[in-house]
Amino acid sequence: MSTVSKWALITGASSGLGVDFSHILARLGINLVIVARRQDRLEKLKETLKKEYNIKVEVIVMDLSNTGAGYELFDLLLLKEIRIDYLINNAGFGIYGQQVESDLSKIDEMMRLNMITLTELCHFFGKDMASRNGGRILNVASLASFQPCPGYASYAATKSYVLNFTQALGHELRDKNVTATALCPGLTETEFMEVAGQGLSIYSKFAIMKSFPVANAGIKAMFAGKQFVVPGFMNKFNVILLRLVPRSLYPKLVAYFLKE
Ligand SMILES: NC(=O)c1ccc[n+]([C@@H]2O[C@H](COP(=O)([O-])OP(=O)(O)OC[C@H]3O[C@@H](n4cnc5c(N)ncnc54)[C@H](OP(=O)(O)O)[C@@H]3O)[C@@H](O)[C@H]2O)c1
Repeated sequence: MSTVSKWALITGASSGLGVDFSHILARLGINLVIVARRQDRLEKLKETLKKEYNIKVEVIVMDLSNTGAGYELFDLLLLKEIRIDYLINNAGFGIYGQQVESDLSKIDEMMRLNMITLTELCHFFGKDMASRNGGRILNVASLASFQPCPGYASYAATKSYVLNFTQALGHELRDKNVTATALCPGLTETEFMEVAGQGLSIYSKFAIMKSFPVANAGIKAMFAGKQFVVPGFMNKFNVILLRLVPRSLYPKLVAYFLKE
């Protein structure tokens, strides 16, 4: 697929993986719609991208955990006459702690952002891409998608949803020349841990990855039309290891690796 005059929508572009996705796609000459809540960060990124890559950049400040945010964003881009060729559903956050001790309203917000808005955006943009017989979707899932994670009980479950949803969606859209790929990063150096309220475990100090190679693996997999990708040797090893042990051992094993 030629990238000339194409548009990508990147959610959660104000920090971490979202910034790297923006640079990687901008370098290919793809125009960008960047979305998050922190306007100052998005405006700064816009200036950098325009200067460095000579592309068009639209900033949209939106809280994507609001009810109906997916439709609102789709509608806004229709009004601006921007058709999206690459959808990068990256915005998301985790909450670390015991499920029953956590703030339920925060968990609700996380589930709406990580699952509901992502689903709405895939629905509306996926339909539009199918009608034009082409498009690519990249949904950011997690290594946590593959297992129950004590300490991240509901966050990990949202990411299992993202992985399963993405694979099924990709299969449904296969005859429409639209692909859906799930990126499943392990621990990555971004603001994620600070937002989640988690300290580094001994294992994660060893396994943590820089965000650029993680984002790059996601974009490469998206262009290759892969169903999912797990970046990094340690993360791949983790997924293979899990296949070798009984599922009943997963919670104990994961809790051990997450221990600070
Ligand atoms: N870093 C990791 O270890 C790791 C591992 C596996 C998966 N992931 C996933 O990777 C994705 C990107 O996270 P990151 O690691 O890059 O963390 P990050 O640096 O905290 O970035 C999260 C992004 O999501 C945006 N966001 C959060 N809440 C939002 C809301 N309500 N509305 C709109 N945007 C919102 C943030 O922007 P604003 O705050 O400006 O709104 C920010 O741009 C997430 O889906 C995360 O679950 C991360």
